[in-house]
Amino acid sequence: MPSAIVLHQAGPPENLKFEPITVQALLPREIRLRQTAVGVNFHDVYVRSGLYQTLALPGTPGIEGVGIITELGSEVQHLSVGDRVAYIYKGYGAYAEERTLPAEAAIHLPAGIDDQVVAATLLKGLTAWVLVHEVYAVKPGDWVLVHAAAGGVGSLLSQWASHLGARVIGTVGSEPKVELAQRYGCSHVIQYRHEDFVARVKDITGGEGVQVAYDAVGKDTFFGSLACLAPCGHLANYGQASGPVPPFEVSALFAKSNSLSRPSVFQHLEMAEKRDAAAAAFFKALNDRVLQPDHIANFPLAQAAQAHRELESRSRQGSVILTI
Ligand SMILES: NC(=O)c1ccc[n+]([C@@H]2O[C@H](COP(=O)([O-])OP(=O)(O)OC[C@H]3O[C@@H](n4cnc5c(N)ncnc54)[C@H](OP(=O)(O)O)[C@@H]3O)[C@@H](O)[C@H]2O)c1
Repeated sequence: MPSAIVLHQAGPPENLKFEPITVQALLPREIRLRQTAVGVNFHDVYVRSGLYQTLALPGTPGIEGVGIITELGSEVQHLSVGDRVAYIYKGYGAYAEERTLPAEAAIHLPAGIDDQVVAATLLKGLTAWVLVHEVYAVKPGDWVLVHAAAGGVGSLLSQWASHLGARVIGTVGSEPKVELAQRYGCSHVIQYRHEDFVARVKDITGGEGVQVAYDAVGKDTFFGSLACLAPCGHLANYGQASGPVPPFEVSALFAKSNSLSRPSVFQHLEMAEKRDAAAAAFFKALNDRVLQPDHIANFPLAQAAQAHRELESRSRQGSVILTI
């Protein structure tokens, strides 16, 4: 019998229990996967802690994984048993040795890209693609602010924006992350727990401000990020690692004619054709070494609780995965 992580009640990491499970019977448009690696994302922390009440309990969290197809539903024609695929899927269930999955969620993996690298970067890399191409199209010469620039999404976002010719200012929570953020393409790095990042951004940009601020820290940085915007600049608030953003007066955007978005990668990539185009761009960026993921912290599936502690610890760099 396969096992999975089951969350019975929202709360601390130790609520993530490794248990035998019965995998659901396969529906006609589904595939069965034997998983090899699973990405751990901050979204999973929001679900586990109860900030997001989007997983029916008891349930298995996790929104991305990699594996081999072991069975096809009767109506699935574009895939084969033995195919190596990855997915991002907001219906949860990724923290498992085996699972069923809607066939349309499967993304074929090109040869030569390691399962663990894909698990560490697919959702985060597609999020970076959405942010630099769809939410705000980054242009050469733009000033771009990336918070948590040494983190999972932040490291890929900094590399991609820098590759597009932007001047990237990164924030990081501690000294060891400064050099990393520079390696990820940040021309300037601010330690925002000790320095006033708004004053530093004004100073670095000669008073101009940034054309776009990418902020997934939320509560602690949101208003500062708004203050960093240049006239007509855009703030993409795409996460809330420090907590939800408090109520906000929209007319505050008027003085500098700023704009604000709260994007979701799932919404942007809902159409399979668009998702596949984004995935192709992402795999090419990996292959061309535009994106160079490193610092992958690897835990056995049964140790998901420890993986969550690691993800929430601000001493960590890079991405966290579970392996099977
Ligand atoms: N909207 C979307 O579709 C979408 C998709 C994927 C991810 N996201 C968001 O992107 C963000 C990054 O996700 P990730 O999985 O790659 O995680 P991550 O960036 O590797 O980890 C979060 C980082 O946030 C920083 N942080 C600031 N205040 C914090 C606090 N109070 N507690 C913990 N961390 C804090 C830390 O970096 P420092 O120590 O350097 O400050 C930490 O490393 C998350 O907010 C996530 O929700 C959104």
